[in-house]
Amino acid sequence: MALVYLGLEQLVERKTRGFWVQRIQADDLMSLKEKPCPLTPEVQEKLEQPYIFLGAGSECFAFLSQDGTTVIKFFKLDRFRPVYLHRGLFCEDYSSFAGTVAQHTFPVEALPSWAAHLLKRLWGIREYRLQRTFESIQLAYGDLKEETGLLYLHLQPQGKFKPLILFDACGIAHNIDLNTTRFVLQKRATSIEEHFSSLSEEEGKQSLDSLLALLFKRCMKGIHDRDIVPRNFGFLGTEAIEIDTGSFSFNPHMKEAWLYRQELFYSTLDLKLWLEKTHPSLATYLVERIQEEYS
Ligand SMILES: Nc1ncnc2c1ncn2[C@@H]1O[C@H](COP(=O)(O)OP(=O)(O)O)[C@@H](O)[C@H]1O
Ligand SMILES: [Mg+2]
Repeated sequence: MALVYLGLEQLVERKTRGFWVQRIQADDLMSLKEKPCPLTPEVQEKLEQPYIFLGAGSECFAFLSQDGTTVIKFFKLDRFRPVYLHRGLFCEDYSSFAGTVAQHTFPVEALPSWAAHLLKRLWGIREYRLQRTFESIQLAYGDLKEETGLLYLHLQPQGKFKPLILFDACGIAHNIDLNTTRFVLQKRATSIEEHFSSLSEEEGKQSLDSLLALLFKRCMKGIHDRDIVPRNFGFLGTEAIEIDTGSFSFNPHMKEAWLYRQELFYSTLDLKLWLEKTHPSLATYLVERIQEEYS
C-alpha cells in the first residue's frame, strides 16, 4: 500500500513538476516593512495575458508569458516541504527564526518542551529560508535591477490586479488572485546552452565579455551569489543576466581581488568545460579574458 502511494506520488510530482496553487499562497506570512514597488502601466499590461509553466527551482515556480517576453515567479510557501523536514529537524537548527516571518496561532507552549522545540525548528527553517529569499530579491531589485532583468516585485499581497490565468505543466488552467499572492516579474532570458548553440564567433565573444562584466560589476557592488551554477544565468541578446535572484547577500569583501577572481573562475568553470567540448575557441577566449582583464 505504502509503495503504491509513493509510486503515485512520484508520478504526480513528475507530471505537475510539484506545482499546485495552494503551494504559492500562504495566509500566515507577515507583511514586510519595505514600501511596495511602484506599479507601472507596462507592468500591468504584461500581466494581462496568460502564463505557461516554464520551470521550477528550489524556491520558486516560473511561468512564461504568452508573448514570450516575461517570466512570472511564485514562491514555494507551503509549510511542510521535505527539505524542511530533513534539514530542519536533523541538520540545521533555525528555531530562533520561528515567529519572525510567519504568525503562529498553535499554542506551542502547551506541548512538552522537546516537542515544542522540534515544532519551532520546523517553523524556523521555513521562515529562515523565506526571509533569505525575500531579502535577496529586494537586494537584487534595489542594486541589480539591470543585471537581473527584474521588472516588478510583489512581496506584499495587495493591489488591484485582474486575475491571472496560469497553465500548469499538465496544461490545466488556474485562476490566480495576484492581489493576495507574492510574485516577481522578470524579463525572459535565453538559457546559456540555448544561447551558445546559435551564435557566431563574434557574438559568442561579446556574450562572454558581457558575462564576465556582469559578475565583476556585482562583486564591485559588494554582492555575493551563493548559487552560481550556469542554469541560473541567461542572455538577453548578447547581454548576460542572472535569472536566479534568490541567492544574493551583501558582502563588501567581494570587492577584494582574491574573492572576485575566485567568483569569476568558479562561476564560469562549468561553462568553460562545456565550451571546451562544443566551442573550443570560445573556451580559450574565456580563459584569456579572465587572465587579461581581471588578474
Ligand atoms: N527570466 C527567466 N528566463 C528564462 N527562464 C527562467 C527565468 N527565470 C527562471 N527561469 C527558469 O525557471 C527555473 C527556476 O527559476 P529560478 O529563478 O532559478 O528559481 P529558484 O530560485 O527556485 O532556483 C530556471 O532554472 C529557469 O529554467
Ligand atoms: Mg535556480
